[in-house]
Amino acid sequence: MQRGEFSSRFAFIMAASGSAVGLGNIWGFPTNAAENGGGAFLLLYFILAFVLAYPALMAELVIGRNTRANMVTALGKLGGDTGVGKLGSGAGLFALVVASLILSFYGIVAGWMTAYLVAPAAEITGADSAASWLTTQTVTRDLIFTAVFMLLTIMVIAAGVANGIEKWSRRLMPSLLILMLVLVIYVMFQPGALEGLKVYLMPDFSRISDPDLIISAMGQAFFSLSLGVGTMLIYGSYMSEKENLPSIGVLVTLVDTGIAFFAGLLVIPAIFAAQHLGLQVMDASGAMIAGPDLIFQVLPALFDNMGSWGVYVALAFFLLMTIAALTSSISMLEVPVAYLVETFNLERHRATYFMGGLIYLVSVVIIFNFGTLFGAVVSFTTEYSQPLLGIVTCVFAGWVMKRNALLQEIKNGMPDAENSLFWKIWPHYVRFVCPLLILLAFVQSIR
Ligand code: TRP
Repeated sequence: MQRGEFSSRFAFIMAASGSAVGLGNIWGFPTNAAENGGGAFLLLYFILAFVLAYPALMAELVIGRNTRANMVTALGKLGGDTGVGKLGSGAGLFALVVASLILSFYGIVAGWMTAYLVAPAAEITGADSAASWLTTQTVTRDLIFTAVFMLLTIMVIAAGVANGIEKWSRRLMPSLLILMLVLVIYVMFQPGALEGLKVYLMPDFSRISDPDLIISAMGQAFFSLSLGVGTMLIYGSYMSEKENLPSIGVLVTLVDTGIAFFAGLLVIPAIFAAQHLGLQVMDASGAMIAGPDLIFQVLPALFDNMGSWGVYVALAFFLLMTIAALTSSISMLEVPVAYLVETFNLERHRATYFMGGLIYLVSVVIIFNFGTLFGAVVSFTTEYSQPLLGIVTCVFAGWVMKRNALLQEIKNGMPDAENSLFWKIWPHYVRFVCPLLILLAFVQSIR
């Protein structure tokens, strides 16, 4: 059977950075930075993204392109007909379940974004009661909008690599950049915004030796680059032999960290503009409001107070969020779909609707038991499973894959690989440094 392939370097970069740039960048990163030492956190995050997340990203890209398969088949193949192979397939299956579970909660949050995107549109057309229904959390609204968002995700993935993932990433990622640029400029001109810029960028180095902080920056970097669960691996498997893997990896890491930085220029000044208007932006303990309250209360209140432009700014902001979420959610759904298509020869459309439907059912269960399940699924997948699977991928690239095969794969698209700085450092890095660092962070975080 013919496997899909990205048609160009640009297409791959848009798709992979589309996966990386998501809700994690836009709502997770900025408040994390503002609360944890501003510019110092930024610097720390940037360093960790390159010394820890980038090598792990490379492990996935190399394994993916070399085996041209989904993670289950890929790790099984590398391990061969031994216990290691079985372990690899097992880890791949676990990764597939984790990717699906991540999508089940991500889809709910993205559904909120979609509802908040439709709300200003309803307001513009005068349907005020619809707008207020859209912005009030109810089980019905969440069921409907998670379904809407999942359907969008399904439609892109059902269309395949070139006609779905590539086509939409190429359209959506540049739109996202433009929207963000316009919003940053607009927000900067709001009274009070520049105060936020200072808090965001002023480095406070006293905070960054705190081990908890390092761990949270590490976790952020891992989630943000979509690592561990085989998303980058499967995208790597659709990359052409001609591409230079190490430099493409650098570009994707740069786009991801760059957009996280850029998101800070939008969100933090917005919080201070809201404060300037007299809106409450600190919680009872004096910490800056973050997470859902920030996105769904503080910012909408700010937009409401911006006068007649506010409703359009709200529209642009939630469009930005929805786009960011969609280019990430498709990469999650591709993980189980590629497995079903390649292993059971299922037709792509069927596999996509089947998996998407199944994951939606899990979302439904979470929606009905939100208080008990949502947080549990988030921490099971992102805090525990992702780092462990990250170790597995590094170990497979560093120890199971033959050194020769590794070099050969990197030489495709980089003939001089043998003499490169990358080849001098990276192989040792994925063997020793990455697994140990991740393990250390993991142990520290579950203590
Ligand atoms: N990186 C995305 C974000 O920042 C989310 C994401 C996409 C993801 N694919 C993933 C997270 C796989 C973990 C695993 O929002």
